[in-house]
Amino acid sequence: MKHSLTIPQLPPFDHQPRPYTGPAAEEVLRLRQEFMNPGIFLYYKNPVMFVEGKGQYIWDDKGKRYLDGLGGIVTISVGHCHPHVVAAAQKQSEILQHSTTIYLHPNVAEYAEKLASKMPGDLKVCYFVNSGSEANDLALLMARAYTGNFDMIALRNAYHGGNASGMGLTAHSTWKYNVPHSFGVHHAIAPYPYRGPYGYSDPEGGRKYADDVKNLLDYATPGKVAGFIAESIQGVGGFVEFPQGYLKHTYEHIRAAGGVCIADEVQTGFGRTGTHFWGFETQGVVPDIVTMAKGIGNGAPLAAVVTTQKIAQSLLGKVHFNTFGGNPIVSAMGKAVLEVIENEKLQENSLKLGTRIKDGLEKLKAKYPIIGDVRGKGLMLGVEIVKDRQTKEPAKAECAQVLENAREMGLLIGKGGLWGQTIRFAPPMCINQADADFIIEVFDAAFGAL
Ligand SMILES: Cc1ncc(COP(=O)(O)O)c(C=O)c1O
Repeated sequence: MKHSLTIPQLPPFDHQPRPYTGPAAEEVLRLRQEFMNPGIFLYYKNPVMFVEGKGQYIWDDKGKRYLDGLGGIVTISVGHCHPHVVAAAQKQSEILQHSTTIYLHPNVAEYAEKLASKMPGDLKVCYFVNSGSEANDLALLMARAYTGNFDMIALRNAYHGGNASGMGLTAHSTWKYNVPHSFGVHHAIAPYPYRGPYGYSDPEGGRKYADDVKNLLDYATPGKVAGFIAESIQGVGGFVEFPQGYLKHTYEHIRAAGGVCIADEVQTGFGRTGTHFWGFETQGVVPDIVTMAKGIGNGAPLAAVVTTQKIAQSLLGKVHFNTFGGNPIVSAMGKAVLEVIENEKLQENSLKLGTRIKDGLEKLKAKYPIIGDVRGKGLMLGVEIVKDRQTKEPAKAECAQVLENAREMGLLIGKGGLWGQTIRFAPPMCINQADADFIIEVFDAAFGAL
C-alpha cells in the first residue's frame, strides 16, 4: 500500500481455530508447482493457504483470520462448516457413503422432493450431478433431445463451465481453448448496461438487448433453436445485472422459435439475490430448465438440473447415468443447506445486509472516481473499476491492488470481468451487521490506499 490508513478491525468472533501442524504454505506451493495442473491460477502476489473455516470467517496456516467475502467463489452459501451441514455429512458418512442410482436410497429422493418444493411452476423433476459444468452439459442435452433442434443461443460475457459444452456456451476468450467446441452456439450481445449500447437510463434497454437475440434467430440459425441459456446475473463476467424485461422478451423470442429457456443459477440461486430465492425470479420469468451448483452444497460436490416432467420424458430413449449424482452424503448435505437457509432466514439476511453494503459502496463511488459502476443484488455485488469514467478503460492492475489491500486488512474479495476489472463480493449469507460495516471500511481503506 502506498500510504497507510487506519486498518479496520475485524469484528470479534467466538471461535478458536486448531493449531495448524501441516506443511507450510511455501511447501504446498512447491508441491503444487511440481505435481499439479500449471494452468490453475492463484490469487495474490503471496498466495494464501486456508486451513480452517467457521461461518463467514476463514483462517490461514499462520492463524490469521479473514472475512471470506468471496465464499470460495460463491460456493459457501450458509457459512463454513455449518454445524447442521457437518452433522448431516458426518451421520451419513458413518452409515453408508455410496450406493449409486441403480438402488434406492431415501436421502436423494427426500432431497429431490425438498428441492422441487423450492421451484415454481412445473419445474419438479431433479437430476443430480457433481458440478455446474456437468449440469449445463445435461441441460444442453435435454434442450436438444426435447426440441429436436440443435442451435443454442447464449450470451457474450457468460461463463457456463470448463468442459467441452460449457466452454462452447461460455463467451470470454480467457476460458476458450483453440479447439472446436462452439458448434451450433451463437452468442448474443451481453445485456450489460454499463458497457453495452443501451445504458441504465434507457427504459427500453431490456427489450432492445432482447432484439439482438431475435436478430440472431433470424440471421444465424435455421429459425428453430434448441434453446437459450443465461446466468441470471453474470458471475465470472463481473456480476452483470440485466435490465428489467430482458429475460421476458428473450424467452418470448426463444419459445416462438421452438426453443426452451435455461436459467443457470449456479451463482445466483439459493437466496443470494435477497429479494428472491432464484435469480430468474427477479426478472419475472419461469424457465423450462434450471441448473444449479456451488451454493447448493455449501462446498459439497453437488449440482442439479431441474426441469418439467414433459422435458424429462424426452431423455427416456437412452439411459442417463451419473455414478455419484445424488450420492447419500451430498444429498444429506444439500437438504441440510436448504434447512439452514430457511431456519436462519438467510435469504432475508442477504437482502438486508446486501442493501446496507451496496449503499456503502454507492457512497464510495461518489468518493473515488476510479469506481465506475456499483451493481448487483443481495449478497452478490460487483464494483467495476475504470481508469477514466468517460472512456471506461478497464483498470485491471488497480483492481488487483484493491484485492491485495483488502487481503492485508483481513477481507477476501474476488475479481471478474473480461479484463479482471470488476471486484466481486459474495460472502456466505450468514454475515452480520458488524461484518457489513467492516467490509465497507475495508473497501474505503483499500481504495484510499491506491
Ligand atoms: C454461472 C456458472 N455456471 C457454471 C459454472 C461451472 O461450474 P463448475 O465449476 O462447478 O463446473 C460456473 C463456475 O464458476 C458458473 O459460475
